[in-house]
Amino acid sequence: MRARPIIAIDGPAGAGKSTVARLVAEKLGYVLVDTGAMYRAVALAATRRSVPFESGVEVGEIARSLLATLSFVRGEDGSVRVLFGSEDVSPLIRTPEMSLGASTVSAHPDVRDALLSLQRNAGKDGGVVLEGRDIGTVVFPDAEAKFFLTATPEVRAQRRFEELRAKGDATITFDQTLADVQKRDAQDSGRAVAPLRPADDATLVDSSSMNIEETVAFILARVKRP
Ligand code: DC
Repeated sequence: MRARPIIAIDGPAGAGKSTVARLVAEKLGYVLVDTGAMYRAVALAATRRSVPFESGVEVGEIARSLLATLSFVRGEDGSVRVLFGSEDVSPLIRTPEMSLGASTVSAHPDVRDALLSLQRNAGKDGGVVLEGRDIGTVVFPDAEAKFFLTATPEVRAQRRFEELRAKGDATITFDQTLADVQKRDAQDSGRAVAPLRPADDATLVDSSSMNIEETVAFILARVKRP
């Protein structure tokens, strides 16, 4: 066992992973690694180079070359900012287009290979919370604590919809958000490489009827710390 554990939080889009993972990391004083942001960054870089998300080999090259310039820093408000060189691309990777784009590029084995070492390096010493889809199954199968956070598609779509509205997106509808959530679920769970699924030894956490504080408390109560 590592001196400080690796905590893996996996689950589908909109299950509340980002907020829960951030709060768990804050409470424990651990580093937070948002692996979805890495796939989103690849989708943004592909868009900028006019490479279609479906072109696996080309997007794989983009992912490999992105490693030289991609970095994560803590912003003044405590949030993690995603940088390309010195450019802060954090808001640009959080659009509905980049959500679906990230889901599409993440199905390519070359893209997953490129990001795997980045993710393993970020977590290997422990004292870290990693959130994603395959942390407990592929990235750190030996993580000391694994959680699979989920909620019904309707609950997840409602949360996403409220987030997008709060960000000022007046055109988005609930039906469109639900359709996007269902499409991402199907893509993320149906792909051949590292599909979204709970690790056999993961604790399932259904956040449909738990609020954020309850979910965080549930997780903290199950993390054994040295
Ligand atoms: O967690 P997120 O919504 O930011 O993730 C965006 C997409 O990236 C998600 O739909 C699938 C992909 N992803 C992945 O395949 N593996 C991960 N560990 C994290 C994200």
